Amino acid sequence: MKLRHAALVVLTLACANAHADDALYRQFGEKPGLTKIVDDTYDNVLSDPRTAPYFDNAPVKRIKQKLVEQLCVLLEGPCVYTGRNMKRTHEGQNIDRAAFNALVEDLQAAMDKNGVPFHAQNRLLAKLAPMYRDIQDRE
Ligand code: HEM
Repeated sequence: MKLRHAALVVLTLACANAHADDALYRQFGEKPGLTKIVDDTYDNVLSDPRTAPYFDNAPVKRIKQKLVEQLCVLLEGPCVYTGRNMKRTHEGQNIDRAAFNALVEDLQAAMDKNGVPFHAQNRLLAKLAPMYRDIQDRE
């Protein structure tokens, strides 16, 4: 009886923990919310003169799918990233700080539009910021 009780406690704690771990992912509306945010981000990026030229010949449908996976992983959701690494993907594209910041602003506008709480937005941006090192190839 005691053992069964202990097992139940462990199970309950494990569930509570799993719940806490994906809290950030849930604030983005899980997979449907994230898919909508990435769609809206790319609507912005493709109509933003600061970023649009970079995507002239780019496979936008594939990028969006891979970005959903990648953001899901960063938000500690139940996903696996199956895309290429950031350095190789962005090599030779002349991405500088201005282009990077522009894309981040386009993402912020999409998060605002979809009601992502400010604190949750900042937690994602803090995870994206260090990626600049791999994405830029121009000062
Ligand atoms: C935090 C910032 C960024 C993240 C997380 C990100 C993420 C990604 C991902 C996941 C892909 C698809 C990888 C694959 O095909 O396997 C991709 C491709 C691409 N990204 Fe980014 N990206 C970022 C910033 C930028 C910026 C600032 C630009 C230009 C303004 C840009 C331009 C592109 C282009 C043109 C491709 C397509 C490359 C190709 O297939 O030839 N990215 N990005």
